[in-house]
Amino acid sequence: MAARFNPIIIGSERSEAGIPAAMEILRAGGSALDAVERGLRLCEDNLNDHYVGTGGLPNARGVVELDASIMVGSTRAFGAVAAVKNYPNPISIARKVMEQLPQHSLLVGEGAEAFAEYLGFTTVELLTPESKKLWLKQLETANSESIEGENTRATSGDERYRLASLELVKRMAPHTGPWGTINIIALDQFGELVCGVSTSGYPYKHPGRVGDSAIAGAGNYSDIRYGAGACTGRGELALRSGTARTIVENLRAGQDPETACANALLEARALPDDFRAELRCLSLTQDGRHGGAAGMEGSTYTLMTEHSTAPEFRPRRIL
Ligand code: GLY
Repeated sequence: MAARFNPIIIGSERSEAGIPAAMEILRAGGSALDAVERGLRLCEDNLNDHYVGTGGLPNARGVVELDASIMVGSTRAFGAVAAVKNYPNPISIARKVMEQLPQHSLLVGEGAEAFAEYLGFTTVELLTPESKKLWLKQLETANSESIEGENTRATSGDERYRLASLELVKRMAPHTGPWGTINIIALDQFGELVCGVSTSGYPYKHPGRVGDSAIAGAGNYSDIRYGAGACTGRGELALRSGTARTIVENLRAGQDPETACANALLEARALPDDFRAELRCLSLTQDGRHGGAAGMEGSTYTLMTEHSTAPEFRPRRIL
């Protein structure tokens, strides 16, 4: 008889909206794939979360565009969608890409929406009154900063990003005009290790901008032999550095999950970037070891085992 693995699930900040239901699936003997999809759907449907799914903050035109991906550790099967409008659960479309379009891995924009329509998924207005209000409010803040100072003054990466975004908004939406993706990684009793990522991406992004969340090796990677890695935060750094794959390569080299994440972050940090902002990593292995790293004091990740009665919060290594 095959050995039974002890189910475990971890997630980034705010994944606690979905992790208990995902753990219920694992406890009942369900698959990591179902658990990750269920957990992320609940996060996508959480109207209080403005960085994923319905209620996510919009792009420079005021339109919400979503990215998501899912990866299975035993086969390295990968499904992803990017820049999807009007469909509230991109993680489910990503899963269907993996299962029903195995000749492809990633669909974007109109093509992804056409596939979702073919599947019979229903559309909704993703921009809620509250997320529109937040979008406009942050825009006003950025506007007053640009009146006070010069676009050339030394600012943090986040501020510079906001100022550059304001230029986009001025061009694209002149009349109306803490980030955070969600990662969930689960191990089921059969030893399958699945990693899922979902996001509305950086607010004020250029329409069509795709971040790391939809890209294998950048924001999401799972390889059952070594472990899984996922990222939140500034996706362009994870894209340029191949951060999720670097985490897994570090695991392969024998590093523990926390160290693997920390060293992957250090590599991304070494890149020049005028828009530098927080990038965070998480990792889980098939033998149930886990860890995370971040730049900001107090950063945590969420954990549940079969024995947890509620989500537990674990510190990430701070660099
Ligand atoms: N990490 C999410 C994004 O950059 O869109």
